[in-house]
Amino acid sequence: RRPIPSFRCTLAGGVTTVPILTELKMKCATPLPLLQRIADAMTSDMRAGLAADNGSDLKMILSYVDSLPTGNEKGLFYALDLGGTNFRVVRVQLGGKQNNVSIPRELMQGTTEELFNFIASKLANFAAKESGKFQLPKGRMREIGFTFSFPIKQTSIDSGILIKWTKGFAVLGTAGKDVVACLKEAMQRQGLDMSVSALVNDSVATLAGAKYWDDDVLIAVILGTGTNACYIERKDAIPKLQWPAGGTRNMIISTEWGAFTTDLPLTEFDKDMDSESINPGEQIFEKTISGMYLGEIVRRVLLKMASFSSLFGDSIPEKLLIPTPDLCAMQQDDTKDLSKVEEILSNTIGATRSTLKARKIVVDICDTIVKRGGRLAGAGIVGILQKMEQDSKGLISGKRTVVAMDGGLYEHYPQYRNYLKDAVAELLGAEVSKNIVIEHTKDGSGIGAALLAAANSKYASEFQI
Ligand code: GLC
Repeated sequence: RRPIPSFRCTLAGGVTTVPILTELKMKCATPLPLLQRIADAMTSDMRAGLAADNGSDLKMILSYVDSLPTGNEKGLFYALDLGGTNFRVVRVQLGGKQNNVSIPRELMQGTTEELFNFIASKLANFAAKESGKFQLPKGRMREIGFTFSFPIKQTSIDSGILIKWTKGFAVLGTAGKDVVACLKEAMQRQGLDMSVSALVNDSVATLAGAKYWDDDVLIAVILGTGTNACYIERKDAIPKLQWPAGGTRNMIISTEWGAFTTDLPLTEFDKDMDSESINPGEQIFEKTISGMYLGEIVRRVLLKMASFSSLFGDSIPEKLLIPTPDLCAMQQDDTKDLSKVEEILSNTIGATRSTLKARKIVVDICDTIVKRGGRLAGAGIVGILQKMEQDSKGLISGKRTVVAMDGGLYEHYPQYRNYLKDAVAELLGAEVSKNIVIEHTKDGSGIGAALLAAANSKYASEFQI
């Protein structure tokens, strides 16, 4: 372990935690000028990524989604959603049904074949249960919209090569392969007769799903285990797009903003977490703002305070060396004596006798990390809005614009949501921000993927529109 001179304290009783907390707050501060610099950098990274592959940290992935659902799509479609923590299969028709399963940890770091076998077998079970209830016309294969929430290089709507795994995934041998082909092979092994009509990122599926209900949706943001944002771009503003003349005017671009790095306020805790992660040096924005990492940063701060300033008494709670405290619930404790925080600290890290002062510090740490995350995410959204406004004056500033949000972090963490919205309002000013609606679209991605499968159905002439 590195020595930490300015914080070296004795373990005897009254050592203060103040310097550690003060320094943490200072390093995590996100004043307006910094947020503006970050929003500007996001805008210019977007342009560089649109100009050329590898032109910036942001991959600006072409989704090949260039026509959005009209609302007239018909038929029965399936959506497969391989995300960060859960995998789900959805059947979409009126009153659609879904089946959610968590992804076994060992599969996240196993082989490609194991992972896709798992997906195909769950899909086969689901389809078998459903098959009696829904009859497809003779000769028509069941079609899938496959939401694959990782960076893929697409050359068409129904294929894509995995660039790299992110979040907790490190499956062997998948990078460089077409994930639709991997799924097809696994389906064949299962004897399952289904075809993939659309391969989409979760942010793209969310945008498609949200736009189905509300035409003013221009951006979708995922804040869950990982994070990403996508938006509707004009094709003539995408220099790297080779596109036959005559197609539609716009295409959804998945920014893969999790890889953004410029000017981020990082602490020693972020740096240590990154270097010990399965993808060091990568996805730094994601590691600063998304759900998989926030609790882990807090744990690292707590560990330092427990070691150097006796936050939990003379010994370090053993479990603080491994798990992540449930920071969301801790921050939502509104009891006077922070009894829920006490309970969580006791259950998760084994800190059985925390003082009220220590619990207040814990909440303060959570707040610091969550505030930084929410505000940075807000700056990212403003970066995208700025880019769109610069290219088409009046697009954003003059009319209602909806940003569709999804993901567990956004959904379950009110403080995070508020910090995000505050940052957007501060950056845009009252006049413009009153037109920007930041709205939760729950499960838009399942519906969106099925809609995109419908919009790109192999049986288009018969069943679409
Ligand atoms: C990660 C993935 C990205 C996905 C996001 C949200 O950043 O790389 O593709 O959209 O997580 O799930």
